[in-house]
Amino acid sequence: MVPAYAQQAMQSAAAMVNDPVNLQGLLEKIEEIPFRPLADAHLIDPTRPSEPPSEEFRTLRTRLNHMQTLSPIHSIVVTSPSPAEGKSFTAVNLALAQSHLAGNLALLGDFDFRRPIVHTLFQVDRSPGITDFLLGRAELHEIIKKIAGTNLYIMPAGEAVLNPLELLNLREVKSMVDRLPSVFNWVILDTPPLLFAADANLLSTMCHGTLLVVRIGTTTIDSVTRAMQSLCENNVLGISVNGARRGELYSRYAYYHSYYDSAEAKAREDGEADAEAMRVAGPPREKPV
Ligand SMILES: Nc1ncnc2c1ncn2[C@@H]1O[C@H](COP(=O)(O)OP(=O)(O)OP(=O)(O)O)[C@@H](O)[C@H]1O
Ligand SMILES: [Mg+2]
Repeated sequence: MVPAYAQQAMQSAAAMVNDPVNLQGLLEKIEEIPFRPLADAHLIDPTRPSEPPSEEFRTLRTRLNHMQTLSPIHSIVVTSPSPAEGKSFTAVNLALAQSHLAGNLALLGDFDFRRPIVHTLFQVDRSPGITDFLLGRAELHEIIKKIAGTNLYIMPAGEAVLNPLELLNLREVKSMVDRLPSVFNWVILDTPPLLFAADANLLSTMCHGTLLVVRIGTTTIDSVTRAMQSLCENNVLGISVNGARRGELYSRYAYYHSYYDSAEAKAREDGEADAEAMRVAGPPREKPV
């Protein structure tokens, strides 16, 4: 009879051989692609660091990186209560902002299998992507692309599936989310809206933290309350307010003042209100719109 410890060793050896989340030599096998974003993708531009929303995403990055020094937070779900509130806008720009720091590898995964957009923003194929990997049709290194000249890696959603939630329940998803942070300092998941599908909620139970996006003029206090309730015990790191007017932020939040002081920023502030502005805060006490 085979002793229990030997059985266990054989099982883990077999698991290693069959393990689809194989991180061995992963980075060397990943294909590099040029940075060729869609014209109106609203991506931050590292060559114009003082332009909004670059400044705001750097603030968000700083706050999250500070949290990371206090506890091991490496995987983060970006979600919002409802559609079109800026989840993808936030996830992509946060990943970009992280990747601008030397040696800070950031992986952006499009876990919104219902309305994926990362492949469109970076003008790459949707497939092979995450769903293809989960269905055993592609290997991990085949679904990740490195954006040339940056520390950013992207993982498109993959072929459309009829059963996104079923797929997200596969143990490979948990295994991916658990283990990718050993290669990437930040694993950022773009996800569907909380109140329209259970996907983001499920993913947030697997990740170290969740960032809730709300959009000024769109998100209602009721939907924020319901979204926060649905996340219950999950680790909500903060709320990112999207679409605030610059003047509004400059007059209200001290940490924008250094930028406000620059002549260029002042001139811009006097002009048309910008579309983008972000901040991270605790759960809202007042109506966010
Ligand atoms: N602050 C902003 N300034 C300008 N455009 C923005 C801003 N936030 C989002 N958008 C634009 O609004 C649209 C919806 O944003 P986005 O795709 O990020 O929303 P979403 O919450 O991911 O939507 P979905 O629920 O469909 O996944 C996009 O065209 C995006 O470029
Ligand atoms: Mg989206």
